[in-house]
Amino acid sequence: MSIKAKIEQLRSEIEKHDYQYHVLDAPLIADHDYDRLMEELRDLEARHPEFIVPASPTQRVAPRPLPGFAEVRHSTPLLSLANAYSYEDLAEFDRRVRDGFAGPVEYVVELKIDGLAVALRYEAGLFVLGATRGDGEVGEDITDNLRTILSLPLRLREPLTLEVRGEAFLPVATFAQLNNERRESALPEFANPRNAAAGSLRQLDPSVVALRKLDLVVYGLAQQAGAVSARHSESLEFLHQSGFKVSPLRQVVATIKEAYALCLHYQGIRHNLPYGIDGLVIKLNDQAGQVQLGTTAKSPRWAIAYKFPAEVGISRLLDIEISVGRTASLNPTAILEPLTLAGTVVSRATLHNADFIAAKDLRLGDYVYVQKAGDIIPEVVAPVLSRRGAELVPYIFPAACPVCQTPVVQSAGEVAWRCPNPKCPALLREKLIYFASKSAMDIAGLGEAVVTSLVQHKLVADAADLYSLTVPQLLTLPRLGQRSATSLVEAIAKSKHNALDRLITALGIPLVGEKVALTLAREFLSLDVLAQATEAELMAIPEIGPKMAESISIFFAKADSINLIEKLRAAGLNFVYALSARGNALAGKTFVITGTLPGLSREAAAELIMAHGGTVAGSVSGKQPRS
Ligand code: IVH
Repeated sequence: MSIKAKIEQLRSEIEKHDYQYHVLDAPLIADHDYDRLMEELRDLEARHPEFIVPASPTQRVAPRPLPGFAEVRHSTPLLSLANAYSYEDLAEFDRRVRDGFAGPVEYVVELKIDGLAVALRYEAGLFVLGATRGDGEVGEDITDNLRTILSLPLRLREPLTLEVRGEAFLPVATFAQLNNERRESALPEFANPRNAAAGSLRQLDPSVVALRKLDLVVYGLAQQAGAVSARHSESLEFLHQSGFKVSPLRQVVATIKEAYALCLHYQGIRHNLPYGIDGLVIKLNDQAGQVQLGTTAKSPRWAIAYKFPAEVGISRLLDIEISVGRTASLNPTAILEPLTLAGTVVSRATLHNADFIAAKDLRLGDYVYVQKAGDIIPEVVAPVLSRRGAELVPYIFPAACPVCQTPVVQSAGEVAWRCPNPKCPALLREKLIYFASKSAMDIAGLGEAVVTSLVQHKLVADAADLYSLTVPQLLTLPRLGQRSATSLVEAIAKSKHNALDRLITALGIPLVGEKVALTLAREFLSLDVLAQATEAELMAIPEIGPKMAESISIFFAKADSINLIEKLRAAGLNFVYALSARGNALAGKTFVITGTLPGLSREAAAELIMAHGGTVAGSVSGKQPRS
């Protein structure tokens, strides 16, 4: 078999498994066997780059961030849907359909997945363009970002030219994981999967989008060269057969009553689904009938969205718990009498900050309305004033840190009150937990309990101290045996070789999470170069705005940070971005660095040379002072 044929065979095989896994949720082979196929293809393509094509499964993630998104005019407008909130609304819709269309009426009922509308264009079977809805007429070209979605076929089984419409979304589990990471990184959480999907697709770096693990369901065919099916249900079947994921619910019913029964059924089980839905969509099945009914300026007359009612409950505010976060902020949490809301028991809800509590005048003992925003995060909406007892007094936010009793401070323009004590044990605990967490240094065995114990027993005063911990020291801690102590010391030592982006994440720079850390590592290649970067240099990177740039430069200018970094260097942590990631442009070359280099310390220059595969001769120590 020729190399070209072998490559093609591998691609078809991988596409088949992508479809089985990501569209049908029915994998045929084990992950490592799949990985082996991918590796084989990557390897062949690396040796024969002349055979690489954009539709190859290896080409999902574009290597470079985009400068911005280009505008795309849609072939036909992306409309929205009229909403129905009751059976009466649906019956009214049904009457209008029957008035406007003489043929036999049949409806297709689909899930209304809560994500972001996208239009996808295929030419001769190849995915060539993907766009957001925008204002309905003109959207943004997000082709490179959509290519990272593994359930999106890069090529169809037939060389068809067509345009499909669908919804890009984040599955519930992925959404929860993303918000966890954001919470740990002191980044604002997304209120619901739709905002998260929108935020992800707006990222300029496709490799960051790929990490977000979006999914896609298509629900309609906008344009197709050649035959058009007579029924919408047939179009959906056709799309499914062509390799797309479609709504698992695509039931054909004869009456609006049956459609409503499905709405009620799904209202009851919506929280058991692996993705968020905010309703069901009911569409006239007959495509000629759709054309006959036409559209209003905003929405088709042949379809309607049944929207689930928001779930609100009443509970009691039993207490307000104040914890100290990783950025030293005092974070209030409402402790509620447990109530069931949108399928889960709610007993806590964030109260964000002192201003939030004051603006709503929440008082301990109040009855409060609780709602799930976007049906995911519980939220205290307001006190039930009619049920407020005369004895309840306005809440006074603590004036001192609940852990170290230092009086709290508020910086100008900030809502958060912070504990100013850099030695606050609560702060150290949070920082260490974050440092060791999965998305940061990923140190196995260093969870909350061990960290709490280390802090209590004063074995560490900062993250760098972790690297000098010994087994005998750890054995002095309660509930830690020889075996766990040994593996913990090993896990800590192993983390010294972690990729640079993990270390940047672990430093806990305010506003810098895992994804930004990766961007910074790739841009600056070494921690020392990053530490010296000016705000202007930071802002030259598309994802870095002025706030983030300021936060990064403040962090690296602090004496505590400089001290920590020097201790981490002395402990032998990796400060450079992986060699392979930057190629070996300087391989085989040896450099001697003398004198001063404008804007670069000798150490940083050495790291850069090494990051490109070069060798540095002689000593480069004698770090330049920060200017
Ligand atoms: S049909 C012309 N079907 O809901 C028909 N839309 O307001 C327009 N959506 O953002 C859409 N699931 O992206 C249709 N099964 C489904 C849908 C669906 C979700 C979204 C759509 C749009 C919004 C409509």
